[in-house]
Amino acid sequence: MSYVLAFYGIKDGQGVTTTALAVADELARRHSVIFVDADMSGTGTAADALQLDAGGRGMGNLIGARAIGARDLLGQALPTRQRNLGLVPGLSAVCGSAIPRLVGQLRDGQAFAIPGVEFVVVDFGAIAHPEARSLRQSVTAVASVAHRVFTVLRDDPPMIARAVLVLKSAQPPKTELLLAESRRGQLRKHVREVLRLQLPEVALAATLPWDPGRAQRSLDSGRPPSMPALVRELRLAEQAEPVLAQVRATSGGPA
Ligand SMILES: Nc1ncnc2c1ncn2[C@@H]1O[C@H](COP(=O)(O)OP(=O)(O)OP(=O)(O)O)[C@@H](O)[C@H]1O
Ligand SMILES: [Mg+2]
Repeated sequence: MSYVLAFYGIKDGQGVTTTALAVADELARRHSVIFVDADMSGTGTAADALQLDAGGRGMGNLIGARAIGARDLLGQALPTRQRNLGLVPGLSAVCGSAIPRLVGQLRDGQAFAIPGVEFVVVDFGAIAHPEARSLRQSVTAVASVAHRVFTVLRDDPPMIARAVLVLKSAQPPKTELLLAESRRGQLRKHVREVLRLQLPEVALAATLPWDPGRAQRSLDSGRPPSMPALVRELRLAEQAEPVLAQVRATSGGPA
């Protein structure tokens, strides 16, 4: 079993894909990583963000299968500019399965037990839904195949207010919040207070800057923004160590 980090959004355009790619890229400096663009909305953009030509590969070839195995995922992965980072492109102009169904396929095929791969970073895209119950169902499914689950939220006050309402009624399990801060973190204290009072069981795991200039440079260069501080703050490598040790022990060098 690789160590699985899942990302999802409760609204589109919050920076989920960018942040997930940045985390995967940072981890790949020291570890083997596969990024899976599992955004089922039909607008998976991870390959575009890295300026990669999918060349016909991607989740689109797998979503019809009964089960999705590790070999299937590896077969759809593209190399990236980062030597230890492979990327499975997302759907292009076609909507995929509902998240619980996709997760069922991944679980049935043991897709995330990828020999020699230490981290799998999965971008499930925005799974907001008018019925909070379905957000809970989707994230419950996601949590069943992931070691840690993150959502990214921008710190715009209306966005925070809405996110609090949605999260409060959906109570998605395992979710850790990553707050993308504008205004140099001026709202941080206020947002922390709102989250503490309204969502005591959802952890604010870390903050990151909402920095349009940096995001634009990242898109122009086809390289994820560098976020070493975020990866350190989340203690991803440290917490994953028992799983990583197992991966190393069972892979026994190059396959
Ligand atoms: N930390 C950030 N600071 C500023 N801009 C950002 C940041 N992260 C992402 N962006 C920009 O915001 C836009 C949306 O980002 P991204 O595609 O990562 O969001 P998303 O939540 O994955 O959206 P979607 O719901 O469409 O999948 C992009 O133009 C991206 O360059
Ligand atoms: Mg996205």
